[in-house]
Amino acid sequence: MSVKDVLAEINGFLGCVTPDVWIDEALNNQETLLIDHANCEKKAATTAMNLLYKHIDRDDLLKKMSQLAREELLHFEQVVNIMKDRGIAYRHVSSSRYAAGLREQVRKGGVNELVDVLIVGAFIEARSCERFAKLAPFLDDVLAKFYRSLLRSEGRHYQDYLALAAQYADAPIAGRVAEFREFERELIESPDTEFRFHSGVPVAA
Ligand SMILES: [Fe+2]
Ligand SMILES: [Fe+2]
Repeated sequence: MSVKDVLAEINGFLGCVTPDVWIDEALNNQETLLIDHANCEKKAATTAMNLLYKHIDRDDLLKKMSQLAREELLHFEQVVNIMKDRGIAYRHVSSSRYAAGLREQVRKGGVNELVDVLIVGAFIEARSCERFAKLAPFLDDVLAKFYRSLLRSEGRHYQDYLALAAQYADAPIAGRVAEFREFERELIESPDTEFRFHSGVPVAA
């Protein structure tokens, strides 16, 4: 599947595009963008690792998530290197409301919890992919090239999460995906006081 096809699929999957005002804010806050991006890669690896601990009886999940965790840690290392090259110190940056807001909606217990966690994973990966693509044309060559290189793997992660969700669910997941599409859209399109990689519409402080 070409990058263009993956992006077309992702734009069909997401409930909205990233607002232009978020792009402006990102370009004005590239230091926070990179630090939060590094944190997101670390957290993506942690999410995958948690699934590896919890679902030792699911072969396909073990294979995909161990692969995914390794890739996210590689991305983490790459972001940290870019920060170092730019003289950006790795300082503490709090998490955005985004992933926590999605996780709040996860049903507790049994296969429903697993399916919801996997759907949330698909949305986070899809949104990341969409934002890398939308940001790239406005970034310097090094960062643009890096973000374009991430598109392909984050696009694949989106597909893997969604495929696993469908595989392990005991009923079709389209309805649940549609519900999460709305939760996710709300987080992206509503005002957000804190700028982060997955933040909503920036409001002037
Ligand atoms: Fe990543
Ligand atoms: Fe990813």
